[in-house]
Amino acid sequence: MNILLLGSGGREHALAWRLAQSRLLANDGDTLYAAPGNPGIAAHATCVKLDAADHAAVLAFCEEQRIGLVVVGPEAPLVDGLADSLRGAGVPVFGPSQAAAQLEGSKGFTKDLCARANIPTGGYARVSSHAAAMAALARFGAPVVIKADGLAAGKGVTVAMTMAEAEAAVADIFAGRFGAAGAEAVIEEFLEGEEASFFALTDGHTVVPFASAQDHKRVGDGDTGPNTGGMGAYSPARVLTPALEAEALTRIIVPTVKTLADEGMPYSGVLFLGLMLTATGPQLIEYNCRFGDPETQVMLMRLESDLGELLLACAENRLAAVEPPRFSPDTALTVVMAAQGYPGTPKQGGTIGGIAAAEAGGARVFHAGTTLNDDVLVASGGRVLNVTARGRTVTEAQAAAYAAVDALDFPDGFCRRDIGWREVAREKGG
Ligand code: AMP
Ligand code: GLY
Repeated sequence: MNILLLGSGGREHALAWRLAQSRLLANDGDTLYAAPGNPGIAAHATCVKLDAADHAAVLAFCEEQRIGLVVVGPEAPLVDGLADSLRGAGVPVFGPSQAAAQLEGSKGFTKDLCARANIPTGGYARVSSHAAAMAALARFGAPVVIKADGLAAGKGVTVAMTMAEAEAAVADIFAGRFGAAGAEAVIEEFLEGEEASFFALTDGHTVVPFASAQDHKRVGDGDTGPNTGGMGAYSPARVLTPALEAEALTRIIVPTVKTLADEGMPYSGVLFLGLMLTATGPQLIEYNCRFGDPETQVMLMRLESDLGELLLACAENRLAAVEPPRFSPDTALTVVMAAQGYPGTPKQGGTIGGIAAAEAGGARVFHAGTTLNDDVLVASGGRVLNVTARGRTVTEAQAAAYAAVDALDFPDGFCRRDIGWREVAREKGG
């Protein structure tokens, strides 16, 4: 069949690499399309120009190219209802409906759902005015977490350690800093523990665990400096023991999927859980309605199953009939090479060389923000490359990833040198 992948980052490069190996594309003439794709994705897919916000154009392309599966990478087209448009036209799509994507699109929606389904998460108040927010802050006290309700490109959350910070965050939101995303806010109890991410696939009814990962959000070594979209990640997250994983599945994921189905908005796609591993068990911090970036890069380095068949089974509501995903017990670790200046204004246009040398030892360099400038590969984003390697231990995977980083020639790039530090320290401690 023909498959269309939407997106242009490192997550989509990893998805394209794995989809290209699928049996779904085994027949002569079967084509993987990517829109818009990037120079790394172009090694696995035919890149086409297509605006995911233009549903009619996407539908016309699917009809012309007889697309048998659409895989949506980022959240914005899902929150915007693209999956509904495709399903309405009979095109199988991996990704939730607009109603179900509210799990990521509205923090208040998710908190209310957790309350209805008795899912462990921090206490909260939904507020839609500055005065109501201030009253809630007075009840919660510091530390406290303030979240703009809607999609805010990862910038809508403030973990306030003092009341002054909390009041400033509330003032920002209700002064319109996040536009419509900040018309409402959630004031939330501060949770303490180690964070881990967990991913599950569902077709709306059947749920299968996918894999776990941990990322590094701060820009600097030792988890210092401003927050970013993620400077590196590894999978699995060993802190999420099989017992904790089972608890997250039965107490959080299964009731979420069941409640959404019971309420007429079945969730189909991948559920990405941000978890806080507290003293009293895993609590939900947030849901995302798509694969993580760069978590996907490390999970797919370990995946042994056919990705295309799994995603199509979700889209076609027959997940129970396929073999659950299998993963290597190895660790995969990715180091993000960012352009100098990130997460502020990144320096664009820096030349990138040495990718073949970096990949010679088995590492993979996923393109996150690159473009071709007269056939020369250059940086075109904040996060530019995801240098990803496998090892039997985190220590081995980390050494292999940094050996690949050191083989790259990207003078305008930088990376953290300590990705995986928690696990490496735990391995050293025996
Ligand atoms: P979110 O966008 O909801 O993932 O929040 C961004 C980050 O803020 C999370 O990864 C956590 O580090 C932190 N955070 C969010 N909610 C809480 C909470 N209730 N308690 C402590 N930290 C939180
Ligand atoms: N790495 C976090 C995310 O994809 O949202």
